[in-house]
Amino acid sequence: MLRSATHDPSMVTIDFANGTQSRFHAIWLRDNALDPETRASGNGQRLITIGDIPADVSISAAEVVKGDLIVTFQPEDKTVTFPASWLAEHIYDRDRDSEIGRLAPGITTWERGIDAPCGDWDAVHANLTAKRDWLAAVAEYGFAKLTDGPTEPESLLKVADLFGYVRETNYGPYFEVRTEVNPTNLAYTGLGLQAHTDNPYRDPVPTLQILYCLENSAEGGDSIVVDGFRAAERLRDQNPVGFALLAGYPARFEYKGSDGVCLQSRRPMIELSPDGELIGIRFNNRSSAPFVDVPFDQMEAYYAAYRQLGEIIDDPAMGVSFKLEPGESFIVDNTRVLHARLGYSGAGSRWLQGCYADKDGLLSTLAAMRMAQPEAAE
Ligand code: FE2
Repeated sequence: MLRSATHDPSMVTIDFANGTQSRFHAIWLRDNALDPETRASGNGQRLITIGDIPADVSISAAEVVKGDLIVTFQPEDKTVTFPASWLAEHIYDRDRDSEIGRLAPGITTWERGIDAPCGDWDAVHANLTAKRDWLAAVAEYGFAKLTDGPTEPESLLKVADLFGYVRETNYGPYFEVRTEVNPTNLAYTGLGLQAHTDNPYRDPVPTLQILYCLENSAEGGDSIVVDGFRAAERLRDQNPVGFALLAGYPARFEYKGSDGVCLQSRRPMIELSPDGELIGIRFNNRSSAPFVDVPFDQMEAYYAAYRQLGEIIDDPAMGVSFKLEPGESFIVDNTRVLHARLGYSGAGSRWLQGCYADKDGLLSTLAAMRMAQPEAAE
């Protein structure tokens, strides 16, 4: 509910019933008008361009009627109603958190000691609340396990079906992770792998990865996940200058291990939004290419920060480890959570299948489920 509104030609100042006050500009209100000439009533998409709004748009009247705001814009002489609840949801006149490297709302960072978020195969397929909780864990923590699934090949594709689509790459719709005689990628050997994000040489990177276990009787081969956002926070706290270097200059990544493939990217190891929010981590020793975008007099400090980030990621206090059983899988947000595996011996067998998918589809499915079941949302 709105209590009152005052205006001048360039803005409206609103007093909400809870005692707070917010300002809204004329151009912002006109652009976001909710009338059917501005917004399609079916899909909510905007029907006008920025050029359709007069550059000299102004407010000639603003009043509160039945708790909502009614504004008249000139020179169009157009009157539009803004519901109080809509205005409250879209307040932008507020103090901003300007901390560099801050987390987006809804993200919780973690290290060793947390219980791995986990869903049950049958439950997430049969029960909407179980599915929503599993998707919510991926959104909040950047990874989740799924247990008691089938042990047939290609079962991982059904994991992607829960929220979206497999992202096919030059490795195919999915790839086999087991020892090969002449591997095209070190992932297909028994060597241990340092914690990494996958495919940083792609732009855009695959934003989700699913690894699904079909056999795992070999010695070793445990999976480890590390929260790259927690690692970035630790680097920022220990060495803010180094953090700024890794965020401020592009690294280079490359993969050309197969015929006809030469993937290259130029992206930072720590990616921030333009206003300082932490949005991505790329870390992969196997596919790092020579860094040529860091100024000469900053290169040694850049490398020191890179080494320090690697030490944080390798710190045993950071990783959550588990050994997947046949029929178990895990999904990681590949823009945030690094995965590793311990080396494994030739005795017994280890067979995983992996695929990529995209986080926007998962977040969309989660948001739509929360809208459909608001009473069950956390
Ligand atoms: Fe990997």
